[in-house]
Amino acid sequence: AEIHDQKLRRGQGGELHQIAENDTPVLTTAQGGPVADDQNTLRVGARGPALIEDFHFREKIFHFDHERIPERVVHARGYGAHGFFETYESLAAYTRADLFQRPGEKTPAFVRFSTVAGNKGSADLARDVRGFAVKLYTQEGNWDLVGNNIPVFFIQDAIKFPDVIHAAKQEPDRAFPQAQTAHDNFWDFISLTPESMHMVMWVMSDRAIPRSFRFMEGFGVHTFRLINAKDESTFVKFHWKPKLGLQSVAWNEAVKINGADPDFHRRDLWQSIKSGNFPEWELSVQLFDQEFADRFDFDVLDPTKIIPEEILPVKAIGRLVLDRMPDNFFAETEQVAFMTQNVPPGIDFSNDPLLQGRNFSYLDTQLKRLGSTNFTHLPINAPKCPFAHFQQDGHMAMRNPVGRTNYQPNSHGEGPRESPLRGYRHFPAEEQGQKVRLRAESFADHYSQARQFYISQTPPEQRHIAMALTFELSKVETPVIRERMVAHLLNIDETLATTVAEKLGLQTMPKPADAAVPTRQDLPPSPALSIIER
Ligand code: HEM
Repeated sequence: AEIHDQKLRRGQGGELHQIAENDTPVLTTAQGGPVADDQNTLRVGARGPALIEDFHFREKIFHFDHERIPERVVHARGYGAHGFFETYESLAAYTRADLFQRPGEKTPAFVRFSTVAGNKGSADLARDVRGFAVKLYTQEGNWDLVGNNIPVFFIQDAIKFPDVIHAAKQEPDRAFPQAQTAHDNFWDFISLTPESMHMVMWVMSDRAIPRSFRFMEGFGVHTFRLINAKDESTFVKFHWKPKLGLQSVAWNEAVKINGADPDFHRRDLWQSIKSGNFPEWELSVQLFDQEFADRFDFDVLDPTKIIPEEILPVKAIGRLVLDRMPDNFFAETEQVAFMTQNVPPGIDFSNDPLLQGRNFSYLDTQLKRLGSTNFTHLPINAPKCPFAHFQQDGHMAMRNPVGRTNYQPNSHGEGPRESPLRGYRHFPAEEQGQKVRLRAESFADHYSQARQFYISQTPPEQRHIAMALTFELSKVETPVIRERMVAHLLNIDETLATTVAEKLGLQTMPKPADAAVPTRQDLPPSPALSIIER
């Protein structure tokens, strides 16, 4: 009955098309009305004025006018792929997360790689941090591990995030640079933010110009918790290790590639996956307890610090394979919404102040970018496990509760109920303290790990760091910013500092920046502090 009068035909995907005279699908309006002429607007006479009555023209232009959505406020330029995660062995001793219970278990995944600072149309080979955001569609809801290819971050507290990003992105008056770290605002902020020194060393290293996404590591950065069925907590750091190993390009190569093919990283991922050459990463963990954490001079809650792998080796717990490109870039890669707060039962947060802030920011930003509280109705964001809740209505609601009952408890015996046993239980960490705006002294050493990173590099890699710093700072117009940076470098490595200072033509060597770990007495008086002392 559907296929009547030869006007309808099934397409390749089983969908019905209206059929035109020449046997191809009929072009329709979004309302399904068949279109006779898509080349000429309706007008009075062949040379006359257009008529507002032309509903097809108006609908077509209306839709086109609204094609753009806001680009991500950070990580605007990205590229994604589908795949799966396979668990190696049961981690039941550490976590009750369903995806880690059974060896060989496969969990569907979507990954989006990105650059942080550049706009959506910027070039792939910019010197920048790369995002490594993984969405795992587990049987207990989506788990988003929203990481980067560098294991530490610029700042220790989320309240500084708008500042570091404003400083890193294009300057507000001139609207450039669109994708480079090399400018006054960025280096001004960095030179006034000693906690950024460790990350800056990574960003000046070859890590910040990867050969392709397939040769990058990924890091969850923060300390998270794994929680087992007995509600016991183990701290965890997550690492993605590429099966192909780690490879970068040199700066002069990056500059040429950007000029010749600004889509170089996109093209690489597309071509390798389309030709059946599926990139793979191992998920590795560093597991530790509070007693182990207490042995360090630094704080495991501080996102500017790593736990050296020589001290705590990583353990591989599964592999991620990317084997399918999206059918549509916008629908999947652009509309995917990663959120650090998406964790399944068995994975929990630490008190890392950056992570705590992120847990607010990602949900908040999706409303702005995707335009509706119903962004989870988009196929790329919807869980792939059964789900049931009483959320309803809002813009573009695709799913609403069925039937009379849209609340609980209810006496109709309808709809979902909570499950204290299966549901998410937050780890009952004991917390106490005064309400203050203070940073712990255990967050105060900003140079030791920057130095460790620098000396862990081979001589050619160290030369690249010196060259990158020289190039970057030579673009900075304000002399005092250059000097401040050299003053920080003196606390990291003296040879590095003098090499950069000489190449920049600094007349006098600045004094090393104040590296003293402040004690409470050294902190500037603040209302919060005086409350404590009272
Ligand atoms: C986006 C990583 C810190 C706010 C992203 C993305 C990644 C990422 C990978 C891109 C997600 C995608 O591909 O769609 C990180 C890491 C951080 C960090 C590793 C620190 C360790 C922060 C902080 C905030 C923040 C502190 C705010 C307090 C955002 C926002 C987006 C974003 C608003 C845009 C999300 C979207 O529009 O979909 N971040 N980020 N991030 N991040 Fe972060």
